[in-house]
Amino acid sequence: MDKIILTGDRPTGRLHVGHYVGSLRQRVALQNSGEYKRTMIMIADAQALTDNFANPEKVRQNIIEVALDYLSVGLDPEKSILFIQSQIPELTELTFYYSDLVTVARLQRNPTVKNEIKLRNFEADIPVGFFTYPISQASDITAFKATTVPVGEDQLPMIEQAREIVRRFNSIYKPVLVEPEALVPKEAAARRLPGIDGKAKMSKSLGNCIYLSDSADEVTAKIKTMYTDPQHLRVSDPGHLEGNTVFTYLDAFCRPEHFARYWPEYQSLDELKEHYQKGGVGDMKVKKFLTQIVQEELEPIRRKRAEYEKDIPAVYDILKAGSDKARAIAAQTLHEVKDAMQINYFDDAELIRAQAEKYAAKHED
Ligand code: TRP
Repeated sequence: MDKIILTGDRPTGRLHVGHYVGSLRQRVALQNSGEYKRTMIMIADAQALTDNFANPEKVRQNIIEVALDYLSVGLDPEKSILFIQSQIPELTELTFYYSDLVTVARLQRNPTVKNEIKLRNFEADIPVGFFTYPISQASDITAFKATTVPVGEDQLPMIEQAREIVRRFNSIYKPVLVEPEALVPKEAAARRLPGIDGKAKMSKSLGNCIYLSDSADEVTAKIKTMYTDPQHLRVSDPGHLEGNTVFTYLDAFCRPEHFARYWPEYQSLDELKEHYQKGGVGDMKVKKFLTQIVQEELEPIRRKRAEYEKDIPAVYDILKAGSDKARAIAAQTLHEVKDAMQINYFDDAELIRAQAEKYAAKHED
């Protein structure tokens, strides 16, 4: 079977290096791997509205930000279909039909939903749209017959719920839907980058993110303030690696060739770590090294972004063309779904003929 990738992001903010390490970098590799018949990347604005319904301007502003982030890291509209969820009305139609196959109790048990309800203090008044977004996400995935859904670990319950919907649909009606599989990045370093303050999560409200769209000066300044080891006061003091943000970032970005280029005193990260733990390596030096590495990685991204920023209407055209392509695929799946559910009356010449015959017989006698 042809392998098809679908994944996406809610447009609620600019994407940061955490997104890059945790997912964007992998998506570009998948896109370029030649293993997939199709790579589809969706800006999930309708899903973003399920908890930002009172803030449509925020969602609208971030569509272009996320699109620029995608394009600048190397998602290529020649190779991937980049599209906007709300522009595919077929997705909402699928969601309505899939809703018949899911119980309220099952949604209440979805760990991701449970957790997010807590985070947003929704408890007592959960919007129905938010509560049911796992069903909508199953539509996103199945509309394109995605086999492979690259996501973070927090999204696994969503994929599981989508798989259940597929199995129920296929067994009750006809096997038209494809059961997707999650693809979670393997390396520990790719899982989650902390904020520059050492807090577990990068978040806009904490102001602890390094954005892909930050200038070189902003990135340098942010790494200067990065959280290290509070006990490492003098250069000669032994340093600790655990919870040391600078080293977590090095784990994610550093390759042996970086030492040859920027810090030939060491040959590998292990060697540097060993020396740091013994004492005798200053945080300023490690930060300078990290800055050089991160800048090397972000510079081409920044250059590409600047190119696309020169022609914003063309970026909207890319999203429009992608949405048109996505819509054609979703329409085909919806057609098959309605056929399986026997709600395709006007396409069903056999139905009309049989009904006509039945009523003709009635008038014969
Ligand atoms: N829920 C995902 C997130 O918050 C975004 C998303 C929406 C998605 N639809 C999807 C991811 C379909 C994968 C497949 O990050």
